[in-house]
Formats: sequence, C-alpha cells, structure tokens
Amino acid sequence: MFNCIKCENNNFKNLINGEWVGNKDNKVIEIYSPLDNSLVGTVPAMTQEDIDHVIQVAKDGQREWSKVPMNERAEILYKAADILVENANELVDIMIREIGKDRKSSKSEIHRTADFIRFTADTAKNMAGESIPGDTFPGFKRNKISVVNREPLGVVLAISPFNYPINLSASKIAPAIIVGNSVVLKPATQGSLCGLYLAKVFQEAGVPNGVLNTITGKGSEIGDYAVTHKGVNFINFTGSTEVGVKISKITSMVPLLMELGGKDAAIVLKDADLDLAANNIVAGGYSYSGQRCTAVKRILVLEKVADELVKKVKEKMSNLTVGNPLDKDVDIVPLISTKSADFVEELIKDAIDKGADLVVGGKRDGNLIYPTLFDNVTGDMRIAWEEPFGPVLPIMRVKDKDEAIEIANKSEYGLQGAVFTENIEDAFYVADRLEVGTVQVNNKTERGPDHFPFLGVKASGIGTQGIRYSIESMSRPKATVINLVR
Ligand code: NAP
Ligand code: G3H
Repeated sequence: MFNCIKCENNNFKNLINGEWVGNKDNKVIEIYSPLDNSLVGTVPAMTQEDIDHVIQVAKDGQREWSKVPMNERAEILYKAADILVENANELVDIMIREIGKDRKSSKSEIHRTADFIRFTADTAKNMAGESIPGDTFPGFKRNKISVVNREPLGVVLAISPFNYPINLSASKIAPAIIVGNSVVLKPATQGSLCGLYLAKVFQEAGVPNGVLNTITGKGSEIGDYAVTHKGVNFINFTGSTEVGVKISKITSMVPLLMELGGKDAAIVLKDADLDLAANNIVAGGYSYSGQRCTAVKRILVLEKVADELVKKVKEKMSNLTVGNPLDKDVDIVPLISTKSADFVEELIKDAIDKGADLVVGGKRDGNLIYPTLFDNVTGDMRIAWEEPFGPVLPIMRVKDKDEAIEIANKSEYGLQGAVFTENIEDAFYVADRLEVGTVQVNNKTERGPDHFPFLGVKASGIGTQGIRYSIESMSRPKATVINLVR
C-alpha cells in the first residue's frame, strides 16, 4: 500500500505539500539497523533551502486547514487510526529493524498510538470554550461578556526521538492538527523511516496537502536552522536534555513544549509489598533495554528491606530474555548505537572501579548490554546521577524515607518517581515532597495512559503533554468581548 513513499531499496522521500519528494541535491542519509548493521533504507538529507520551502508550504496549508470544521478534522484522525492498525504488521517489521525494538513492544506502540489518535479526536470534539461575565470582577457591571474560544498557533515544528518513533511523533501531530495547526515533523534520524511511514498514514487518511510535512536530516546539521526559523510558531520537542537546553537557548519568543531526560527513582519503604516492587522495578527498568525516558533508573531502598528486595529483583531478572528481536521475542535488545553502548559500559566500569557490588550482568556483546544490577551504589558514582538509557540499575540503600527523598531530589532531573508502600500516609508524604511531574504509588514509572498529564520539571522538561494538555499547549485562547449597551 505504501509503495509511493519508497522507491527501490527503501529510499524514502519526504512529504511536502502532498508530494513525496527528495531534496534539492539528492544527498541521502543511510539508515543501518542496530541489530545487524544491515542497510534498512535511506532518507533525504535536507538542506536549509528545502526547510525554507517546507515551512512556507506549512504556513500556506495551515490557513485553509484552520477553517475546516472540527468534526471533519476528527473524521480524518479516526481514519488515520484505522489505517495505522491495518498496516501494523508492515510497520512493526520496519520498527524492529530500524530501532531494534522487540516485536511485542513495537505492536503495542502502534495500537497505543491508534488509541491516542482516536482519543485526541474525541477530546477535541468535546472541548468547549467559555463565556465569562464581566460583573464578577470588582467595579464592573453586567454589561460585558468575554466569549473565549481556542485557536491554533500556526506552524508546529515537531521533533521526535528514536525510541518511540510512531507514538512520540503522533502524539505531537494529532493534537496539533486537530486544533487547526499545520505540522512540520522532524523525526529522529534513526527512526525516520517510521516517522515517514506515519506521515503517509495521515496523508492516506485525508490530511490535506501542506498540513503535515516532513523534514529529514541530521539534527546536528539542520536542527539549529529549523528551530530558529522565523516561520515556526511552536516547537514540540522530545529528546535529550542536552539538545532541549540548546534549543531553549537559541530560540526566542517561540513557545516550547519539551519532554527531556530523566533519572526516575523507585523508592521502596519498609512496609512495601516487595514482590510487587521487584516486579515493577524489573519491568520498569529493563524493558526495551531501559531506552525509555520513564524507565526506572535508580532504586532507593530502606536498609531494613534492602537484602530481601535485592534477592527478589535478582530472581526476577533471571526471567529477562536477551538477544536479537529479529530471531525471537526478547526483553533486552542491542542498544540503538555503539556510542550508546560505549557510554553505558563507561558507567558500569565507573561503578565497579568505585566499589559498587555487581549483583547481575556487567557483560557486553557488541551493542548488547546484558541486564545489570548494582547494589551499594554511592553518591560519588556516575550511575547514581546519569541517565544511562540502557539496562543498568543502581541500588542505593537509605536509612529512612527522608534520606530517599533527599537523594531523589538531588538529581538534576524531575520526570517521575515511584513509591512502594502499603501506608497511604507515607505514600502522600513522599509524593508531596518529590520534585517531579508525576509520582506513581505502587507502580513503575510510566507515561500512560496517554490522557494523563505528562511532564518533567527541572532538567526534564517544559510544559505538559497528555491528550487534552497537548491540545491546550498547541492552541491559545481567543477572547471576543461583547459590550452591551445597558
Ligand atoms: P536526542 O539525541 O536529543 O534527539 C532527539 C531529536 O532531536 C532527534 O530528532 C534529533 O535528530 C534532534 N536533534 C538533534 N540535535 C538537534 C538540534 N540541534 N536541534 C534540533 N533538533 C535536534 O534524543 P534521542 O537519543 O533521540 O532520545 C533519547 C533521549 O530522549 C533520552 O534522554 C530520553 O530520556 C529522552 N526522551 C524523553 C522523553 C520524555 O517524554 N521525557 C521521551 C523519549 C525520550 P537526529 O536524530 O537527527 O540527531
Ligand atoms: O521514552 C519516553 C516515553 O514517553 C515513555 O513512555 O512510559 O509509556 O514507556 P512509556
């Protein structure tokens, strides 16, 4: 069905004003699989001139799109969700090869995204404006009413990361276009084949020409130019803190929504259900090899139950399957790049050199890092603070919940935190004090369900995602004041 985005050898093109086109000088980027280094496909390496053209096209497309009735926009989204599901198998195969995600997680990402798109349409149709009577403010009479509706911002530049190439692209596109914006999608280079496939899904569903456009190219080459482009009215970015901070420094007067890195702590109190905690820690820390912003990235456990917890986590880790997702369904897959695997290996080495106890793992085979657990990690070790984006978990033993809170809050990050306890008072005590966007009580840290607010504080982000929150972020109130002659 989707042959038109490809020509021979999976040479993908960009969607610009409804056409699938290459760039001006035909330069391409080759995408190699993290699993076996085979060539998965190519995408155009776009130039600044190409970007100027795409942003102009998006600007023109947005004017007409903003006039389309909400129910018609919603119908297109429902159709996009259906087309996505119909093509799930083909897309799963691309996703496995392009980003090394296991089959089960790839499938679930696609179905979750279809649900996200449908829920976005449902939510937008049910969002209403308000009318505010003037006389509620001191000194005013009943002769003024403000009628407040929401209107789009214009051109949204959506920049997505490699690890959820479908979901974290769609979760920008769908809320942006449902309120009448146009979108320029810049997918992660490793993940761009998936991103372009998704754009095709929206096009097939009937998104008009110019409303959704794509630009491919290395962020390090075209990123600064795109984010500082005068034609961009909003930037919706998900990725590393390093790149996010850079974008916030070089842009001016453009609203930003940023979901960045994390170092989510699972705090285990002395009365916790340790089986439940261990199950959640293993699922939360190691799925997709820990390449999730919300992965559990450190364990802060009270001394009294630490030995028992370590035993249980170790036991449950023995059920993790490791290998190549092309061969079988596995939990632990090779990391996205050799650079990432080198970084994780450095963190492991640093922890060993500084005296952490290696409970499980520590082994590397190419880009595959075996699931690794350290106990007795101390504050001088890098693994206590840095985000590995790999399957490595440090355990820090603490004397009480206040020390756990103190260490959790010492992190530069503030995405999520989890607390395991049977005591609701303690759960709230910890939740109230953690400097994060969300606290999970008796569950692993995680983003879903996708209509919940999702945000990071400190170095973990700016603004709030989540279906209704994303729609609100990418639109603004427009007030018309009726002045009655009375
Ligand atoms: P990344 O290296 O920061 O890349 C993210 C996106 O930014 C990619 O599309 C990348 O393009 C682009 N980019 C790179 N340099 C740029 C620049 N100067 N200007 C504009 N865009 C630029 O992150 P990643 O490795 O893909 O993803 C992993 C990181 O994302 C982790 O830190 C993780 O915690 C974070 N993350 C956070 C969330 C969240 O919701 N909080 C969700 C997922 C991931 P190229 O691919 O071409 O370089
Ligand atoms: O990588 C970051 C994603 O937003 C995490 O989503 O918690 O559903 O895995 P998740």
